[in-house]
Amino acid sequence: MVNDGGLNRRSFLKNAGLTAVLAGSGSPLDRLKLAEDTDGKEGHSQQQVKYDFDAVYDRVGTDSVKWDRARQTHGSGLDVGMGIADMDFRAAPCIGEALAERCEHENWGYLSQPADYVESIVSWNQRRYGLDIDPSSLVLATGVHPGLIAALKTFSPPGSRTLICTPSYNGFYGDLRASKTIAEDSMMTVVNGRYEIDFDDFERKAARCNAYLLCNPQNPTGNVWTEEELLRMGEICLKHRTVVLADEIHCDFVMKGQTYTPFANLPDKDIVNNSLTFKAASKTFSLAAMKAAWFFSTNEDFLNRVKENHRADLTTLGMVANRAALMEGEDWFDQALAYIDENQEFVASYIKENIPSITHRKAEGTYLAWLDVSKVIDVLGAVEMAAERDRNSTDPFTPEMLMGEWFGQNARVMLNPGSSYGTGGSGHMRMNVATSRKLLKIALDNIAEALDRLPRV
Ligand SMILES: Cc1ncc(COP(=O)(O)O)c(C=O)c1O
Repeated sequence: MVNDGGLNRRSFLKNAGLTAVLAGSGSPLDRLKLAEDTDGKEGHSQQQVKYDFDAVYDRVGTDSVKWDRARQTHGSGLDVGMGIADMDFRAAPCIGEALAERCEHENWGYLSQPADYVESIVSWNQRRYGLDIDPSSLVLATGVHPGLIAALKTFSPPGSRTLICTPSYNGFYGDLRASKTIAEDSMMTVVNGRYEIDFDDFERKAARCNAYLLCNPQNPTGNVWTEEELLRMGEICLKHRTVVLADEIHCDFVMKGQTYTPFANLPDKDIVNNSLTFKAASKTFSLAAMKAAWFFSTNEDFLNRVKENHRADLTTLGMVANRAALMEGEDWFDQALAYIDENQEFVASYIKENIPSITHRKAEGTYLAWLDVSKVIDVLGAVEMAAERDRNSTDPFTPEMLMGEWFGQNARVMLNPGSSYGTGGSGHMRMNVATSRKLLKIALDNIAEALDRLPRV
């Protein structure tokens, strides 16, 4: 397929990097003189650390949600975008190489589903988690959402309720809107700093829901659910014929000392048969806009019914990037994971030592940090101010949205308001830590300085 004589791959990659630097000129990173690492660094860093996650990879000017949209909202003075869940790192080199190679062939017609792509997904799950997915039960999708929406449309008629343990991933609420179902929020409680499911409430609510949207590991709290917890959720759902839709997109981000248990690996066949699992490599390798995901189930009947509501056409570049990542990117990912674990440690110790007005516990999984800012909300009188804005606005306006504006203006950092994560998200902000530690430190320094200017909590 590939004509090696056509394109000089190294110069192509170099030029692509250069374009990103030029597009980013005038950004906060330039002002901070941190953009020195955007191109050509891998040569020297290879001798010590193979991949240099400390290098700041400037994404400004690439139409990214995390940086460009955040700057539209908070102004071009924003120092660090820490919102939407993708990573700032330069991607695994095998991805760029595979894409560049495929781009040498200039035809973009309909794509057949390559068997080695499915194999790469099955093999990743088998190698890393001992999870045996029957390749014939694997359905490819263009994202986790299309699969979840198809499943909700299958099991939950319009107007029926869907169980969500909150705080929970905000995108689930969009899936409910798309499937015309209603959220049944079961609020978790914080026990010794960790979010726990209130199983009495969970069962009461599961009994009136057709489906349960499980997030494992959980966005935004960072919980990595134990086998015991998953079995208990699964038993209750089975008892009430509530289908478990297990979104395990964050499963590769599990911090030291924690273990990811795939729902499909639980030691109870009936519980597993009452579920479908939805996954992707889009978090693992930061391939979000490449639009590739998959779902599977041991329950053939469930799967066939969901397939009737689902359609996905692969994109060539999405497939090529995902296949390369899963087949050749493991080494890169293992180093990225170790770096993120250190970032999570860094955030925890920084906040403990320097930001007494924020309460935080290191996440067990994900690259997200969940910050309790309720003391700051009190000091600022954000509840009253937000209520006033809410009265004068057609869209709901919450204290956490006000805090989002406040952190944007005063700390020049974009954080996600906790209120978008369901009823359990009040008093919190979500921070994405998948970035260079240099930027993470700037963000935390900015937050600490902004809070220091407030009267003591
Ligand atoms: C729990 C969860 N599910 C699904 C998604 C959507 O992922 P994608 O758009 O890559 O399918 C996200 C993205 O943040 C997520 O956190």
